[in-house]
Amino acid sequence: MRTVRLDTVSLVEPLVDPLYHESGTLVFERGEVPFIGDIITLQKLQVAELSVCETPAEVDGLGQRTGPRLVAVGALTTGDRVASPVYTESGELLVPAGSRADGAMVEELRKFKVREVTVLPDAARREEVFRFATRRREQRKKGVAERLAIDDARMVASEKELAPDQVQEVAGRGQFEFDPADAPLADEVLKDAALARNEEVKRYYLSRYDRNFERAVEFFDLLRGDANGQRIDTAVIGRIAEEIIECLVLDKDLLLCMHHFKRRNYYLVAHTLNVTLITINVAAAMGYSRRQVYEAAYGAFLHDVGMTRIPVEIEEKTTPLTPAEMAEIRDHPQKGLALLRSLSRVPRSTLFAVYQEHERCDGTGYPSQARGPQIHPVAKIVAVADVFDALTSDRPYRKGVKPYSAIETIIKNAHKGLFDTDVVKAFLRYFSLFPVGSWVQLNTQEIAKVMCANPVRYDKPVVRIVFRNEHHEVYANPKLVDLTETANLHVVKAVDAPMDVSESMFWILNLL
Ligand SMILES: [Fe+2]
Repeated sequence: MRTVRLDTVSLVEPLVDPLYHESGTLVFERGEVPFIGDIITLQKLQVAELSVCETPAEVDGLGQRTGPRLVAVGALTTGDRVASPVYTESGELLVPAGSRADGAMVEELRKFKVREVTVLPDAARREEVFRFATRRREQRKKGVAERLAIDDARMVASEKELAPDQVQEVAGRGQFEFDPADAPLADEVLKDAALARNEEVKRYYLSRYDRNFERAVEFFDLLRGDANGQRIDTAVIGRIAEEIIECLVLDKDLLLCMHHFKRRNYYLVAHTLNVTLITINVAAAMGYSRRQVYEAAYGAFLHDVGMTRIPVEIEEKTTPLTPAEMAEIRDHPQKGLALLRSLSRVPRSTLFAVYQEHERCDGTGYPSQARGPQIHPVAKIVAVADVFDALTSDRPYRKGVKPYSAIETIIKNAHKGLFDTDVVKAFLRYFSLFPVGSWVQLNTQEIAKVMCANPVRYDKPVVRIVFRNEHHEVYANPKLVDLTETANLHVVKAVDAPMDVSESMFWILNLL
């Protein structure tokens, strides 16, 4: 028998061996990929490691073992009984055996860099692990992954509703059914997740981003091609949306870092994923429920489908567009709406996200010059997400601007009445002055990457100091600094992302 530390369990590759809890409970089966939320739940239940058993006898042996177990210091809770004494490196007694854990003890252990202690078994907690494992297995049987699938009659647009004149008619009346029904998703978002981030969590996020990119490419290739009269399945959008929502709940700052992995090779797909990611964040910040956020993600993902019907020469043109070409581009919302008919199951709100994302609240948008109340709430969110990503992306005809100035543009346009102010406020809650994932220069000349936003002091984020200076002389071990805790360090200005950093796996892993 051997043990595996919980924070080293792969969240990416299927398990080669089943993993057991020290009480003998089977937690993860062979072949499954543990979900990060499960790992966090187990950490809360103070599980620091799981066992691999070679024989059934070993499993039985586990169940009968009543000895002490190893617990990470961070996972100690008040009342835990320490099984064996803990000494400092110099041999002084730090914690006598039998002591009950409390805040002061944890602080002391941390001060002396003790990572783990042994504690006596706790029957109640064993019972909780058992209940967790049983509940989880039942959910897996039912296929929880499909729980939010767009199959709900309340959500799916009917054939009749898909007709363009019907869409215009509903918009004209401004009566959209999209009110919050359930508890806000934002309530589920974990606090302080960034502190629990480890290598496996980073790998998990990156693998999800890569996989979603591939899935999105496949989807858009299908759209561009001839589907032989077959309807294209939209289930893939649901899977992407669910994964992004889970990432948001688990570590929203890390999720925002993903936004800055700009892919140059397939603009439409990179843009689509970024707009989806931003829309999910903003919709959650606006207080929408999980189901509504999920639905909004469909609208975001499909907002530019009409662009697949615009000739690439026009889309990628480096010189100013002729009036005819401009008209062609401005036709993509209508083309998109028509294309939705070739997809299976599209939520009702998506029709408006596609048709209205270029409308502006003051009536200056296109195609219908709709005004505030006639624009669907999802289209209002997608509009801001779309502008932010479009401005910050490099295009063949211009370089992207820094996130900082894109945010300024959005605020100015909100003042002019183009954007919905509630949407922009929610947007700013996530993309504060220096957005997570963007780069800044400090008063020491050093260049740093913003890792976590500070919700109170927008000008003092947590940063990773990567370069000594603007010549990008790199530090061997880029250090993480909370600017609220350092009086002599502050941000001087936003700077461009250093070349190539956003595309190299080595860099990505080191910087998150
Ligand atoms: Fe568009």
